[in-house]
Amino acid sequence: MKNFYLETFGCQMNVVDSEQIVDLLQGIGYVQVGSAEEADLVLLNTCSVRDKAERKVYGHLGRFKPVKDQRPELIIGVGGCVAQQEGERMLEKVPYLDLVFGTHNIHKLPQMVEQVEAKRQRSSATEFLDRDTRLHLFPERTRKESVTRFVTVMQGCDNFCSYCIVPHVRGREISRPSSDILAEITALVAQGVKEVTLLGQNVNSYGINDPDEVSFAELLRRVDAIVGLERLRFATSHPKDLTPELIACFGELSKLCRHIHLPVQCGSDRILQLMNRGYTAADYLAKVEQLRAVCPDIRLTTDIIVGFPRETEADFQQTLDLVKAVGYVDAFTFLYSPRIETAAAKMPDMVSGAEKQDRFDRLVALQQQTSEEIWQTDVGTIQDILVEGESKQGQGQLFGRTTWNRIVNFSGPADLVGSVVPLKITRSFRNSHLGELLNRQD
Ligand code: SAH
Ligand code: SF4
Ligand code: F3S
Repeated sequence: MKNFYLETFGCQMNVVDSEQIVDLLQGIGYVQVGSAEEADLVLLNTCSVRDKAERKVYGHLGRFKPVKDQRPELIIGVGGCVAQQEGERMLEKVPYLDLVFGTHNIHKLPQMVEQVEAKRQRSSATEFLDRDTRLHLFPERTRKESVTRFVTVMQGCDNFCSYCIVPHVRGREISRPSSDILAEITALVAQGVKEVTLLGQNVNSYGINDPDEVSFAELLRRVDAIVGLERLRFATSHPKDLTPELIACFGELSKLCRHIHLPVQCGSDRILQLMNRGYTAADYLAKVEQLRAVCPDIRLTTDIIVGFPRETEADFQQTLDLVKAVGYVDAFTFLYSPRIETAAAKMPDMVSGAEKQDRFDRLVALQQQTSEEIWQTDVGTIQDILVEGESKQGQGQLFGRTTWNRIVNFSGPADLVGSVVPLKITRSFRNSHLGELLNRQD
């Protein structure tokens, strides 16, 4: 028996890719274990979206060196976005590394591992797949008992936001055939899955490059019609591709949750243009208004980058103004990090580290206050919760989520897992709510 240890960093795309890695390795006789010390094969699935994420990979690899010194037969591999970016260079940089596999080469992993086992030959594979071989990007994954699942509907990104490495490490946008997506979700629902999140770097440009494919809104309508599915979400959307047809779905589809993650990045038109985002603050706010017109209690979350090159205090004030105007329930805020190969990395007039941090802290403080105010409005209300499983709080508690994706912990019998139940929200904490089961009428 051979063991493997896998660590995953980065976004949900990597989480899904890691599920495929697990399947493939099990297929060649490997069993997953919880530490590198017990493993014959150690793999890192990596993220390079910011410098910190990339440095983390080298830090982690360093931890495995003493293990390899003791057991030279240990195979160490790196996959994901850092692997894609660095390619063979990584083998030069890290002499004890055996395998480098890029974001389009996961299906080759079994063959690569067997090659290293047999010949002790180091190898890397980081070429992008073309459209004809794209189905390798959307493998069927093994069954896993779960109430919620991610389903990849497209890969890659064509937007080339000037700060972002994703188009460089994930390749061009490729959509998965809608018939495959619907078949996978139907099969998942038959296994007991109640909620799916349609996943892509830029999910609402689904089908744009495929004239024969349905629109993303039509895909949502078809998924919504699958009998037995309770809830539907999608991530991540680009504001410029949020069409009236897609906005209308929030008013029409009963299973579509009343939450959208809509990264704005910045509130200044000048910076948005430098970022190559393709919309102005006013365009964005108009779409938020349209969303609220069809779905008054929809909640929004966002991503914001602070300290983009040439961002002035006045630009930053516009970001604060936009955040106040929208009233996000949550925001993921990032310090700008220059990335290799991106257009912004060559831009002059970087904001100083201290200034960036100061703006970041002010934004986080504003957002925290807004988030808490919104969450407090839930206290005392009754919300439908899809029960997902046992709570991390232990003590026989269960957890589920509101339509707004907020975690609610509560006491209840385990047979509720997989059903939607009304709960009274009794308290709100930083990361979750506490709820109370209403008397069931059974
Ligand atoms: N495809 C998604 C996610 C991209 S990465 C989208 O378009 O929204 C997630 C977030 O990381 C981005 O929304 C952006 O806010 C942030 N990000 C990307 N590149 C960055 C960089 N170079 N520095 C800081 N934050 C960055
Ligand atoms: Fe990056 Fe922009 Fe593509 Fe998102 S839309 S992945 S931020 S290039
Ligand atoms: Fe990171 Fe790659 Fe995702 S760079 S954010 S893991 S697409």
